[in-house]
Amino acid sequence: MRRAGRALLLAAPLWLLGCGPRVPLRPDGAALGPTGATCPDGGSTFTYESFGRAFFATYCQTCHASTVIGTARFGAPSSETFDDVLSIRAEATMIDELAAAGPDRVNTDMPRSFPVPNDAERHALGEWLACGAP
Ligand code: HEC
Repeated sequence: MRRAGRALLLAAPLWLLGCGPRVPLRPDGAALGPTGATCPDGGSTFTYESFGRAFFATYCQTCHASTVIGTARFGAPSSETFDDVLSIRAEATMIDELAAAGPDRVNTDMPRSFPVPNDAERHALGEWLACGAP
């Protein structure tokens, strides 16, 4: 048991460095929490069409699209599939805590691969979600 455990420890970093997968993966383990993002008076300037669709296509769909199945999802649960704005709204709280930014924190746990959004894009995500993902 102990020997197997150590082999796994040695193998894990190699896997994360991208020896196996085609997608360059990033390590797990970022601290998570609500961003405290709020919706500005008058609503968000961002909409699904102007922001959300491209954001999720660029940073999340590699693993979280319904067309991506099996090992190609790199462990992303099939229940977490962000093909449309409704599926995003349904998971808004969790997405805020994993990938968005706001006054209280910048969450960087997702995406687990490159490319990653910059802080401004994460702030935009936080605001958009706080407004109900219009
Ligand atoms: C390289 C693959 C990959 C990409 C890209 C990716 N994720 Fe994930 N995602 C995962 C994996 C693996 C899990 C399950 C493991 C975990 O929750 O730690 C997951 C789980 C999740 C969950 C469920 C967490 C839970 O606790 O149930 C949410 C929500 C999520 N991801 C959001 C996102 C968002 C938003 C993006 C884009 C900004 C994104 N992911 C991009 C791999 C990915």
